[in-house]
Amino acid sequence: MDISKLNELITPSGTMAISNKAKMLKKEGKPVIGFGAGEPDFATPGYVIDDVKKASENPENHKYSGVAGLEVLRNEISRTTNLYSGFNASPDNIVVSNGGKHAIFNTLISILDKDDEVLIPSPYWTTYPEAVKIAGGIPKVIATNFSDNFKVTVDQLNENLTNKTKALVWVSPSNPTGTVYTKEEAEVIFEWAFKNNIWIISDELYEHLVYEGEKTPSPAIYDPELKNTIVVNGVAKAYAMTGWRVGWIIANDEVISIAKKIQSHATSNVSNLSQIAATSALQNGLEETNIMKEAFNKRRLSAFDVFNNIDNIKIARPNGAFYLFPDISYYCNNKIKNVSNSIEFCDWLLEEHYIAFIPGEVFGAEGYFRCSYALSENELSEGLKRFTEAIKDL
Ligand SMILES: Cc1ncc(COP(=O)(O)O)c(C=O)c1O
Repeated sequence: MDISKLNELITPSGTMAISNKAKMLKKEGKPVIGFGAGEPDFATPGYVIDDVKKASENPENHKYSGVAGLEVLRNEISRTTNLYSGFNASPDNIVVSNGGKHAIFNTLISILDKDDEVLIPSPYWTTYPEAVKIAGGIPKVIATNFSDNFKVTVDQLNENLTNKTKALVWVSPSNPTGTVYTKEEAEVIFEWAFKNNIWIISDELYEHLVYEGEKTPSPAIYDPELKNTIVVNGVAKAYAMTGWRVGWIIANDEVISIAKKIQSHATSNVSNLSQIAATSALQNGLEETNIMKEAFNKRRLSAFDVFNNIDNIKIARPNGAFYLFPDISYYCNNKIKNVSNSIEFCDWLLEEHYIAFIPGEVFGAEGYFRCSYALSENELSEGLKRFTEAIKDL
């Protein structure tokens, strides 16, 4: 029997592929150190767990609830958005979904018609192009340059603009590069999108993980009626809550109405207990987030130094998220037997040296790898020592 042509169009998550291989080796007893994690290595704050325990006894939480999300959570999202991001988001303009990933799917399905084009600067988070394709659109990948610190320019956007362009995916801090746009740089891009009547899908999941200087303003600040802007956010990264699966969109009435219709048929409400967990995280402020951020910052600087001191590696100092994205192309030129690209280099590092990095191809950028520093300080230094040893004579 035939199955959907999507099968040929989309690829499975490449991050998962290397993580699974690393897990298998670990199971075999190999001393694998993983730099692949896209999640904090910290535990969800204790007060979240306490609140969920209490809530689990309440029979109301065992029933269906409103599609858009619990009122108490949408009120908290509204309050904290105003507090941290500096724009007004009415609770009625929020739809809570199963993580930021699901929020991005809802967004794309809500705004795209068949063959609409979506601009995606690369290196990109691996899900964006696949999500666009699933929603019937066409991802238009724009390769940014190392020399521009992986920031997209208006010239590049203009070169890729067609009468089919519907949206731009915007993320700062970025996964996988950790790049953070300045206010001035962001303003130029927002102005370009507003002028050309392009949606900006602003993925703000890493907004609290900026280490130096100001964070990038949300486009919603410049577009208070959300005519062109859809904000995506969630609790996964800032509150160490990846497994709870709570994210949301903030958008205008029209988008919210269609997103609710879509979600009402797809998943209905997000698990009530997870929503209560997210409410608790937001109500309790950023103290735990900032403790985690301090630890990440220490690791960011030490890991950056290791790569930066290797002659054959080029690296920009990233200012956000928990990733480094060094240019390792020097090692992808058959210096090692059967290694002619970054996938093969990462395979070699994993199989021969038991260190797992995610190859740049997964993010649309061959010749790089992503190094997450969301792992313990001991593992980080041991793993990087192993890496330095592995490449020292090449
Ligand atoms: C840039 C970016 N956006 C969205 C997500 C999705 O987060 P969630 O776990 O809430 O689905 C991730 C997760 O890795 C991410 O890196």
